[in-house]
Amino acid sequence: MLTLLNLLKDGRFHSGQALGEALGVSRSAVWKQLQHLEAELGLSIHKVRGRGYQLTNPLTLLDPLKISSGALDWPIFVYDSIDSTNAEALRAVDRGQAAPFLVIAERQVSGRGRRGRKWVSPFADNLYYSLVLRIDGGVRRLEGLSLVVGLAVMSALRKLGVSEVGLKWPNDVLVGRKKIAGILLELVGDPADVCHVVLGIGINVNMQAASEVDQQWTSVRLESGVSCDRNVLAAELSRQLRAYMARHESEGFSALQAEWERNHLWQGQSVSLIAGVSQIEGVVQGIDRQGALRLKVDGVEKVFSGGELSLRLRDDS
Ligand code: ATP
Ligand code: BTN
Repeated sequence: MLTLLNLLKDGRFHSGQALGEALGVSRSAVWKQLQHLEAELGLSIHKVRGRGYQLTNPLTLLDPLKISSGALDWPIFVYDSIDSTNAEALRAVDRGQAAPFLVIAERQVSGRGRRGRKWVSPFADNLYYSLVLRIDGGVRRLEGLSLVVGLAVMSALRKLGVSEVGLKWPNDVLVGRKKIAGILLELVGDPADVCHVVLGIGINVNMQAASEVDQQWTSVRLESGVSCDRNVLAAELSRQLRAYMARHESEGFSALQAEWERNHLWQGQSVSLIAGVSQIEGVVQGIDRQGALRLKVDGVEKVFSGGELSLRLRDDS
């Protein structure tokens, strides 16, 4: 099916006969595969009598050579379709794959968000990116790591022209109030000894409609008005991650604290901090040297951390 897609991806018309010859199948087999592309991958195909078939929106598929662009030495595993790149990354660790390595996919059928939520992951529209790191007895390397990833994602998006992008504690990447990227870190092993951490990053790139997303969202394309090559974004993201992680490793999170706070969209805002069924009202002061949230609650500064916490603007809740 992807061979057929590779023939169509230029957005030009291709006759059924030419496609059949290229694939070595009959015209009716081509027709069946085209229907499958539409039904299975949600792609839209123009059919014009006498001219043939054309993808309504031309697309660029993921290409590990373009992503590494000669500079990246992480092995890159690309999937056409996978349950979740994070899940696959964890399976690869289990199989003994040496880290660092990268898992990316054209689509996820069970993309994971935080707290067991679903990450909407349509085919060839967005970036689904999981980078695996091995951490040897360095709990300090985990400190603030998800916030560091946020800085790298934000910087990559700015390089690609999304100038208004900012951060929301702990690891949302937003344009105004709209979510453009999400980050999910998953860890296996013993953080005090040897562990692997999966940096799972989902960036909305060319997505223009997604009725299943139940909150405000945006994409690079919606912000910039032009379509974006996901390979270029993945290459830039990898460069930014490498640079930020090197700084984090050598200087610790505290070296990035001020930069993170400068980019926090909710600095000084009145918020509700939600932890399961309980809710705390406060005003955002910033973060501490470990990346924990500093909130002024009833006039007293308190510090909060933990993966299950969620912030809402007070006027929204
Ligand atoms: P918080 O971390 O404050 O709870 P959140 O509301 O964004 O922020 P998360 O658990 O971080 O919640 O993210 C999961 C949510 O993201 C899902 O419930 C869904 O509403 C939304 N979502 C799913 N897919 C996408 C997507 N591709 N783009 C934007 N948002 C998405
Ligand atoms: C969130 O904001 O809730 C986090 C979303 C993280 C989504 C990415 S997409 C790549 C990786 N694989 C997954 O299943 N999830 C992360």
